[in-house]
Amino acid sequence: MERIVGLEKERRFCKHGFDHGLNVARVAYSYILEKGEVILPKEIVYAAAFLHDIGRWVEYQTGEDHAEAGARLALPLLEASGFSSEDIQVILRGIREHRRHPEDNLTLLGEALALADDWARDCRHCSAQTLCYKFNYAMKQIMY
Ligand SMILES: [Fe+2]
Ligand SMILES: [Fe+2]
Repeated sequence: MERIVGLEKERRFCKHGFDHGLNVARVAYSYILEKGEVILPKEIVYAAAFLHDIGRWVEYQTGEDHAEAGARLALPLLEASGFSSEDIQVILRGIREHRRHPEDNLTLLGEALALADDWARDCRHCSAQTLCYKFNYAMKQIMY
């Protein structure tokens, strides 16, 4: 994550450090609670949210999709953190799905991450609003 923060120092658009992970975690968990169908444990949602963009530095350096790279990088961290292999599969799938369209038949965690990734951004106060492709297609629906 520190590597990402360093590589994004000059980035005008949203950055992907710790606070982005925390914001996505809070919004994704709220979404899951509100939806009320299946309640995923908070630890699973927060782990997935904190790790969902961890592959960004790989994408910046190699061009590999950061969702795939992120899942690969997250695996040893989740193992070291004591998650069960079942929980790890749920989290890795959510990380892989976080860039897909939320209505694209995703797992609950993938859908929550994909939505929260947009909803957790403060586009209203962003100086790069008019240049951002995310603002154009997603945020206007939320803000106006
Ligand atoms: Fe991402
Ligand atoms: Fe993100």
